Amino acid sequence: MKTFIDLFAGLGGFHLGLSRAGYQCVFASEIDGDLASLYERNFGLRPVGDIRKVDVNHVPKHDVLCAGFPCQPFSSAGKKQGAKCPKSGRLINEVLRIVEFHHPEYILLENVPQIITIQNGEFWKHVNSSLARLGYHVTYKIYSPKQFGIPQNRERVFVVASKRHAIEFEDRPEIACDVNSILVHGIKHRLVEEAKVEALEHWQKYLDNIEFTYCHTVLAAEFGATYPLTDLGLLPIGELVKYRGAFGMSLCECRSHADVYARLPEYIAKKNGKIPEWITTSIRKSREIYSKNQVFLDEWVKSIPPNTSWQKLEWRAERGNLNIFENIIQFRASGIRVSRPTHAPSLVAMTPTQIPIIGKFKRYLAPKEAAKLQALEGLRHLLSDNTKSFKALGNAVNAKIIYFISKKLAWE
Ligand SMILES: C[S@@+](CC[C@H](N)C(=O)[O-])C[C@H]1O[C@@H](n2cnc3c(N)ncnc32)[C@H](O)[C@@H]1O
Repeated sequence: MKTFIDLFAGLGGFHLGLSRAGYQCVFASEIDGDLASLYERNFGLRPVGDIRKVDVNHVPKHDVLCAGFPCQPFSSAGKKQGAKCPKSGRLINEVLRIVEFHHPEYILLENVPQIITIQNGEFWKHVNSSLARLGYHVTYKIYSPKQFGIPQNRERVFVVASKRHAIEFEDRPEIACDVNSILVHGIKHRLVEEAKVEALEHWQKYLDNIEFTYCHTVLAAEFGATYPLTDLGLLPIGELVKYRGAFGMSLCECRSHADVYARLPEYIAKKNGKIPEWITTSIRKSREIYSKNQVFLDEWVKSIPPNTSWQKLEWRAERGNLNIFENIIQFRASGIRVSRPTHAPSLVAMTPTQIPIIGKFKRYLAPKEAAKLQALEGLRHLLSDNTKSFKALGNAVNAKIIYFISKKLAWE
């Protein structure tokens, strides 16, 4: 039986994928105590802790080395410090240290696609040339679960380093999916809080009454606003008082720029009057909608939810079905995002507050369901803490993709 080691083991996505393909795990490392205990419960093997402290002589011989090294230093949601990130950016060197000593036949890595491009490709050059120097042929491919019939869009890069010959990856088309296919009924679900349901119902009234013309972010604070789309800090106060701020608030009594900013939408106020380029189209479109629907919207904004991020609607669903509750919803800092039920949004490790909502049931996705999005339904146990569970699931590698890749490893 061929063997593997599971570095940065987490929930064990590599473990599930490879053991299904007939490989045996002989060593694992996971620094988080709760995850290590869970791994032991699920797989009967206790991972050692911090890999930096492990003597290579204590790592058993193995045929395949697997490492889903931490992605926070590279992901677009993080600070993109790459290998300079002091906490975990250099953990790839721990992988190289073990490879140099043990020379496994294959190395499987998984991470966010940004590892290829970050720091002008310097990080990837380091990984690639180090593995080539150790005698490996390195190839990589970006895959998403939706190419494997799983309703999640989550692109990750899969790297295979082989001592024999370069592995060839094929392109895979997207397969039509439906989030309904992974829902688990009859378990205890977390219902969406009442205030959030009210906010959604309020936006539904908007959708029922406004002709939908454009897929963009609707910014309710722009309804009635007239402030010019230029750097407001450069305009004299005497000029600014002629305009209207968020929800048409008059600026005529403002005596300073600070007074003005306090009456502007929060996305302009926090930039001290600078208008971010990316938001100007949404501002213009939202004002256009207001000009065509003023009577309805003046009434509608009176009961808008006070939470400013709930005053923005990011419509990513179809134009043909404007029922929020037939879609997937996320309450994000950037707004309420509504997406098609064909795919769940990418599970993100760093922001467990964005847990997707199943509109038609007005409930959150359950960890058991999120596990299915990662092909981890084979885990008998998950963490009991909901937030930690989603964080780990968002960090995990998709076991079905690993199974698929493991089938490419030749041994003859
Ligand atoms: C991106 S996750 C990998 C998840 C894993 N592939 C899975 O399927 O769940 C990275 C994991 O590395 C762990 N980790 C971070 N630093 C570590 C270290 N120095 N030694 C061992 N594990 C570490 C984290 O706790 C986290 O669980």
